Amino acid sequence: GDDGARLTFDLAAQEGRAHIVDQGETRTWGINGDHLGPTLRARRGDTVIVRFTNGLSETTTLHWHGMHLPAEADGGPHQMVEPGESWEPSWRIAQPAATLWYHPHPHGETEAHVHRGIAGLFLLDDDEEEALDLPREYGVDDIPVIVQDRTFDAQGQLVETSHRNNGMLGETVLVNGTADPVLEVSAERTRLRILNGSGARSYAFGFEDGRTFAMIASDGGLLPAPVRMERIMLTPGERAEILVDMEPAEEVVLRSFPQDLGLTRGMADSTGSGDELDIMLLRAAQTLRPASALPSILARLEALEETAASTVRGFELRTNRINGRSMDRGRIDEVVTAGTTEIWEVWNDHGQPHNVHIHDVQFQILSVGAEPPPPELAGWKDTVYLPPHERVRLIMRFSDYTSTEIPYMYHCHLLWHEDQGMMGQFVVV
Ligand code: C2O
Ligand code: CU
Ligand code: CU
Repeated sequence: GDDGARLTFDLAAQEGRAHIVDQGETRTWGINGDHLGPTLRARRGDTVIVRFTNGLSETTTLHWHGMHLPAEADGGPHQMVEPGESWEPSWRIAQPAATLWYHPHPHGETEAHVHRGIAGLFLLDDDEEEALDLPREYGVDDIPVIVQDRTFDAQGQLVETSHRNNGMLGETVLVNGTADPVLEVSAERTRLRILNGSGARSYAFGFEDGRTFAMIASDGGLLPAPVRMERIMLTPGERAEILVDMEPAEEVVLRSFPQDLGLTRGMADSTGSGDELDIMLLRAAQTLRPASALPSILARLEALEETAASTVRGFELRTNRINGRSMDRGRIDEVVTAGTTEIWEVWNDHGQPHNVHIHDVQFQILSVGAEPPPPELAGWKDTVYLPPHERVRLIMRFSDYTSTEIPYMYHCHLLWHEDQGMMGQFVVV
């Protein structure tokens, strides 16, 4: 119905200073503050109005990653906001509860703008998720975990490191902009909403003591059922919601473990995939809020059927190009018909790691290589890893918002690759 609220978010990008490391105050960028941005939150059915002002010295944009919305509200490279100017997109939330995020998307500058500190979470709620017995007290047992790797110089300033093959890597991991973070845990069961907000680094998250956790949601919302796991790999832009159980007075480290991205040794070195990094210390109180039984069913996921697809498109990723072409803001690469279901077959045609992100839609994964998706990839996704020399097949439905003029983007979410032109544009007509 039309009973949703009207929510206005006033957001101002600004330059600031943050105390992150001991060497000195870091010059940063942020939204409504010195570093990163506020967590935004809306319910399915709400109308969102954003009043975004660019108080930076550079032209930028603000993109709502994972959101189904009209192309003119998307915040991609067609909605540039000059310094001192404002932009006021509006849309209605028409998708399930999920952990989405926002970040700049100015073509060629996205990696730098995110690196300097513009990013934040955008949480969506709905009745189905709220009917479940899950931790959802924000900041208490429902915790945002934005993971980003950075390098600091001797004065504490951010260093834009060499890109090597895949983009900037840092040796210091920040969670929500904090180095060496400690989470004071007050409940037996805590929900971590993890975002890989890094530009190039992938993480394989798990706990130092090997304890398992329950993954309950991927990019676009709840999984059909909780998945018991020891590790979850997230490439840049991907999210996972996990539930971790702790005993009173216990401590455990959330860590990123070396991971197999399917790369040759040299390529693996330039992506940091062999690194072991402590992400955050979790420290439980003496008395913890008791947890109830974990729901065995989370969401009813309507599987998109291959037979319903009217179009199959192929995309080949190689050396900063998609299908041999570099991003051109003046060129529409694909024209999609509103209301249709499509299959996109995306192929990584060389030895570098990539992932695939599509604006406006959440997709389902039909296969990764010859295999059906593992349970953690069986829900709604907007970004997925594409290993070297592999093919992923994605199915998605394009709905109501149409424009012949303003395109949406699809691209690799390794931000350096995206900036170098590994991006294309589609319109929904
Ligand atoms: Cu998260 Cu086109 O981006
Ligand atoms: Cu996006
Ligand atoms: Cu890439």
